[in-house]
Amino acid sequence: MREHHQKLPAAGPEREALRQKGQFWTPAWVAEAMVAYVVGGGASTVFDPAVGVGAFLRATKSISEAIDRNLEFRGTEIDPDVLEQAKGAGLGPRALAGVQIRDFVRDPPCTALAAIAGNPPYIRHHRLSRELKRELRGLAVNLIGAPLDGRAGLHVYFLLRALRLLAADGRLAFVMPADTCEGVFAPVLWQWITREYRLEVVVTFVPEASPFPGVDTNPVILMIRRAKPQDSFLWVRCDKGDSWELRDWLLRGCQEPPGPSVSVQRRAISEGLATGLSRAPSEVGETGAVLGDFASVMRGIATGANDFFLLRRSEAEALQIPDEFLVPAIGRTRDVPGDRADTATIAALEKAGRPTLLFCPDGRPLERFPPSVRAYLQEGERLGLPQRALISTRRPWYKMERRAVPPILFAYLGRRNARFIRNLAGVVPSTGFLCVYPRQEDPEFLRQLWEVLSQPQTVANLALVGKSYGSGAIKVEPRALERLPLPPCALDEVGLSAPPKSKQMQLIDGD
Ligand SMILES: C[S@@+](CC[C@H](N)C(=O)[O-])C[C@H]1O[C@@H](n2cnc3c(N)ncnc32)[C@H](O)[C@@H]1O
Repeated sequence: MREHHQKLPAAGPEREALRQKGQFWTPAWVAEAMVAYVVGGGASTVFDPAVGVGAFLRATKSISEAIDRNLEFRGTEIDPDVLEQAKGAGLGPRALAGVQIRDFVRDPPCTALAAIAGNPPYIRHHRLSRELKRELRGLAVNLIGAPLDGRAGLHVYFLLRALRLLAADGRLAFVMPADTCEGVFAPVLWQWITREYRLEVVVTFVPEASPFPGVDTNPVILMIRRAKPQDSFLWVRCDKGDSWELRDWLLRGCQEPPGPSVSVQRRAISEGLATGLSRAPSEVGETGAVLGDFASVMRGIATGANDFFLLRRSEAEALQIPDEFLVPAIGRTRDVPGDRADTATIAALEKAGRPTLLFCPDGRPLERFPPSVRAYLQEGERLGLPQRALISTRRPWYKMERRAVPPILFAYLGRRNARFIRNLAGVVPSTGFLCVYPRQEDPEFLRQLWEVLSQPQTVANLALVGKSYGSGAIKVEPRALERLPLPPCALDEVGLSAPPKSKQMQLIDGD
């Protein structure tokens, strides 16, 4: 067997442990392609900063045979247990002799490296301790002269560390989640990378070809050289997994056309950065109309404790909460299966025992509420709600956010496609949705806008502004949704025209 296949636990504590440590293994067809690139400049040692069970060690052996050149392997790995697993999977102590048990980010090797290939742990920022986050912030200032937004995950710091260790004309290939190109921190990161290094190749995968099937990330491979920057790079899309065409194309120095499962195009760095390197080139001109010209967008209500604040009608009745403290609400994107929420949707949810009301106390002192409300709030205090992360920032803890009822909702994260929803039920949504407020109250304007938002081409444009996950899911922040390009022909058809551009494109995402 040439590849160590990872059997992923579908859920539960085992899956959680993998996530916490970022332990997902790279398949051979991808690892070999990456090694082919990094040794393409003549390097004789491949370094992997996070060895895991040795995917890149195996790949180095295979490429060594393919190019008939002796290649050494070195690396670091923080977890001695996985190295034991690597031995169990047939890698002997000699093969692993160049691997040190070491924290690559906090305690990196001190020599320059000519070829680095890796799949760093994708550990998202909310899994990092406060102390580590502070340390990483200092690290970014140290390495690139500026802090990165706190939402950058550990993998981003692996990339910075590794780039800093590259020898002159050295090469790096990292497989990273697309958030590296799409996150709020991306502009600062990529301005630095493309100023200091030469971005040569970005490899993307259609969802069916993902190297990590069943894992909710959209991976991209970044191939970067420590050489004078250039104005363009090669952007690759793999349409089929488990194919050697990508590796073979890289072994040929990217010179000849690859096979049919791989498509390549040359793109300007400036365009790639503006579009997001993980995305196909934008066909929409910068001057076109965007949603923000016609509507403003806000996130849904963050209750801090949906179990407590979202109530079933029967619960609200049993608790005798007066209507003035209740607002019709919708809790999960799954609660609205189609593209409209109306009275039938609410009736179906009530029947299914789902909450449909948001408990909305105002900021008055506890003793001024009616006794039934006071009793329920005291129950919340007994449950320790005032100490919860988000709730503890509210004064008083129970004062609920207010939102006008949005005529249009946007379901922004889910396995089903992201979509707009016409809100005919008068609900306010929780954070699984964004609220879209048309800039004019005129019903005709709303009808026209809704028609444009229902067009498949509009929905397809979400890929230009959202952060993509594996399996085609997409997440869009409020500011990003305001940048959604609206297709000119759809606007023409309904007779809407964009107002003259008044604002500059906003580059900063909200969370
Ligand atoms: C995504 S896995 C990749 C492993 C292997 N390179 C592959 O592609 O199959 C990341 C590995 O990084 C290790 N790791 C996590 N934090 C680390 C750190 N600070 N320094 C070195 N290794 C680390 C994890 O234990 C895990 O084995």
